[in-house]
Amino acid sequence: MCGIIGAIARRDVQPILLEGLRRLEYRGYDSAGLVVLDPGGALRRERAVGKVEALARRLAERPLAGQLGLAHTRWATHGGPTEANAHPHLSGDDIAVVHNGIIENHQALRTELEARGYTFTSDTDTEVIAHLIMDTCRQGLDLPEAVRRVGHRLQGAYALGVVRRDDPDRLVAVRQGSPLIIGLGIGEHFIASDIQAMLPVTQRFIHLENGDIAELTRDEVRILDADGHAVTRPVSESALTAAAADRGRFRHFMLKEIHEQPRAVAETLEGRLTEDGVPEGLLGPGSEDLLARVRSVQILACGTSYHAGLVARYWIEGLLGLPCRVEVASEFRYRRHAVLPDCLLVTISQSGETADSLAALRQAGEDDYLASLAVCNVPESSLVRESDLVLMTHAGPEIGVASTKAFTTQLVALFLLTLALGRHHGLDADRRRTFAQHLRALPAALEKVLALDAPVERLAMTLVDKQHALFLGRGAHYPIALEGALKLKEISYIHAEAYPAGELKHGPLALVDADMPVVVVAPNNPLLEKLKSNLEEVRARGGHLMVFADDVTALGGDGGIQCLAVPPADDWLSPIVHTVPLQLLAYHTAVLKGTDVDQPRNLAKSVTVE
Ligand code: G6P
Repeated sequence: MCGIIGAIARRDVQPILLEGLRRLEYRGYDSAGLVVLDPGGALRRERAVGKVEALARRLAERPLAGQLGLAHTRWATHGGPTEANAHPHLSGDDIAVVHNGIIENHQALRTELEARGYTFTSDTDTEVIAHLIMDTCRQGLDLPEAVRRVGHRLQGAYALGVVRRDDPDRLVAVRQGSPLIIGLGIGEHFIASDIQAMLPVTQRFIHLENGDIAELTRDEVRILDADGHAVTRPVSESALTAAAADRGRFRHFMLKEIHEQPRAVAETLEGRLTEDGVPEGLLGPGSEDLLARVRSVQILACGTSYHAGLVARYWIEGLLGLPCRVEVASEFRYRRHAVLPDCLLVTISQSGETADSLAALRQAGEDDYLASLAVCNVPESSLVRESDLVLMTHAGPEIGVASTKAFTTQLVALFLLTLALGRHHGLDADRRRTFAQHLRALPAALEKVLALDAPVERLAMTLVDKQHALFLGRGAHYPIALEGALKLKEISYIHAEAYPAGELKHGPLALVDADMPVVVVAPNNPLLEKLKSNLEEVRARGGHLMVFADDVTALGGDGGIQCLAVPPADDWLSPIVHTVPLQLLAYHTAVLKGTDVDQPRNLAKSVTVE
């Protein structure tokens, strides 16, 4: 999704903005641009379609310098990914704006502005904002007041950075629905869509609240809330360093993040396991009473996080007997739904800023849920701030668009939640103790499964020239098949579909032939015999099977089947272990195909618009 970085300093900000853009690349974008107020007092802009490097080359040819500036990576919504549509957008040569979000009433505003003589040079909703601010400044208002008034006319979600040629000592920022953070320096201040972009220059941040307008000068930050009152927002110090977003020895962030999983899982478990399960108060003081009252669970999420929710349903219903529903947030938010009795609402999100998940949480706030719990990876995110209870994953920053370590740590957090609920819902101390032991062993099990890297790469060689693939799983491994198929399509662009293996003969079997590889998640559990029949159905039709199994001998291995032995794990936790080889399969297939693994086409890391 679009990324914003802005700076006001006593030094040239162009290198800071360009580095910020590089660090925002992971969010997904298709053009980039930058504007600075140059020493001669003119707004000078450079934009380029494609990668930030294309912009960097332009800047090398035609250098820009200045002590106030804005920059942006654009993920096209209104208007194609062209240079004319790239941000920053200008009104005349006086106002420059960068924007993340969508202005829903842009068409009406555009018509009004055109009638008043403003000329548009792009198809974007953003250009409307630039002209509106210009129009309002012309009435004699200063920049912060003009931005505040324009805000009242905009419908939709947005974060903005605004500068004005005639106001060289001020940068104005607004947060309304889309994330925006202020970075505090000494004699310089910054704004950005996430802290990653500012880590090279500061580790001190202010997270704006919805409706806030901030006025940044070199020495001061003033914030007004939605009602126009001056407010002080807390300053947080981040422990992250600029190096946290380095690829290190790995070729891609995704591979680095796949390999970080043992550590990320260990950190998510840190301090959260006792002899007989999880500590009381895992979800905060007073939470045990609440957990005891829970009689059902509703999970909401998007994308990979939704798949984590689907696995959790098997745990919550299978181990505790509590009814558990899981729904994609974008569907939930737009339909009337019946609330289960004494229901705990759980939202799952890596970023905590996904527009649909946030909207679903807000929508559910009008219903009769016992409480809302966020399972999230970003402590300062909107989702965390707007939920009653929080269970953080400690995956660390995830940069690759395709989610990996965030997913496995979400699964771990959801298993911890199952144990916390289990104390009150029939999971006896012996079983909780056994699960705690299995969880302690999980980082080492994940370390072992990473050793499959080379054999998985060989499997990828047979997948790389295929157009389609089917993924099969049963039970809690069906969502893992879904996640495996999602990873493959996201980064290799091979069309992949996942089915519960029992559904094979109800349709997808018609697709099976020698050109349709079938990837199977086949743990050694009570469903294995059933799964073996499904494999035979594929084999009998000349299909090519790639099977991930922890007991390969049980499968028989001649013609049409490639088996890969996954280290055995406890059946309930096995979905977590079986995730990793599928991540590696997608990764190696994408590398062999030569796609942009970390920033796949058309996708965004954090989907902050609908
Ligand atoms: C985007 C990302 C996915 C992610 C999904 C939900 O589509 O590309 O990797 O699973 O959003 O994101 P969240 O931050 O809410 O988990």
